[in-house]
Amino acid sequence: MAIPTRTLGRTGAEVTTLGYGAMELRGPRVASSADAGRILNAALDAGVNLIDTSPDYGVSEALIGEHASHRRGDYFLASKCGCTPGWEHPADWQGPGPHDYSRANIVAAVEQSLTRMRTDYLDLVQVHISPSAETLEREGVVETLRDLQAQGKVRFIGMSGTIPNLAEHIRMGVFDVFQIPYSLIEREHEALIAEAAEAGAGVIIRGGAAKGAAEEDKRRANPVAGNRWDAWERAGLGELAEGMAPMEFILRFTASHPQMTTNIVGTVNPDHLAQNVRAQEAGPLPDDLYQEAKRRLDEAGTAPAGG
Ligand SMILES: NC(=O)c1ccc[n+]([C@@H]2O[C@H](COP(=O)([O-])OP(=O)(O)OC[C@H]3O[C@@H](n4cnc5c(N)ncnc54)[C@H](OP(=O)(O)O)[C@@H]3O)[C@@H](O)[C@H]2O)c1
Repeated sequence: MAIPTRTLGRTGAEVTTLGYGAMELRGPRVASSADAGRILNAALDAGVNLIDTSPDYGVSEALIGEHASHRRGDYFLASKCGCTPGWEHPADWQGPGPHDYSRANIVAAVEQSLTRMRTDYLDLVQVHISPSAETLEREGVVETLRDLQAQGKVRFIGMSGTIPNLAEHIRMGVFDVFQIPYSLIEREHEALIAEAAEAGAGVIIRGGAAKGAAEEDKRRANPVAGNRWDAWERAGLGELAEGMAPMEFILRFTASHPQMTTNIVGTVNPDHLAQNVRAQEAGPLPDDLYQEAKRRLDEAGTAPAGG
């Protein structure tokens, strides 16, 4: 068995439907640099061929450089821009760090990503935190990214986009890839994922493992995802998933969106990684099951699926 691949929109890259979300590498859940190296290489050895990270994720980029730069040809490397170079997440800080979309800041952040990840090029740089089209225009963000492309430092440009700005980002027609949140407990962008793909872009899904909310400790650690987990109960998805572990059902539901390209699941646990690979190899849910799950979620009054 192998993890299926899909084409990442007009980049033409064939990427595995399971990517590796490297945000978790930033934090206290990784005991040592050697552990980070083991999980990164286990993902690559299993055939995962896309890694997503960000200057915002503390030591994540440096760990990728240390432990995976020797096999740079094995993965499509995606990072972000707009983040502040050198900024470290204070322990009590909630949410993303400060962002600045000026040319100087974007160029400095991309240079820092290249140095940290010990590479000459990023396959993809995604504008972080979904700024408005007005901000993008005022700061000349697309021109800055095009210049980095012309210098060969960045192959493709993307947007980490969310409501309310994502529809406008798609209309701009300049982004090769969109990174969008989606799972059975977070369906607000379902229609916009289709719009992005129909416009020719690749779609990277984040939060596609429902942020681990199938497990109680993760629901406690992430109350937003924890509150949303109620949708699983109200829609009776446990009964529908009969014979499948909840996480398998969650991942296969995400993979069932016909226009998603890859799901960058974050994990620091090798057993979870192996489970996620198996779920991805099993492929999307049978169509009748996917449609029934969506029908039940709609009926349970969960988040609207419209854009
Ligand atoms: N663009 C943005 O603004 C943005 C924001 C957030 C995230 N991201 C990107 O998206 C990636 C994924 O996002 P995310 O971490 O928020 O959501 P996610 O991938 O849906 O959830 C990750 C959580 O799921 C758990 N998990 C994974 N596989 C599991 C399994 N088989 N069984 C039980 N638990 C499992 C992980 O814990 P364990 O480590 O215990 O497995 C982790 O806590 C990030 O790494 C990052 O690259 C981007």
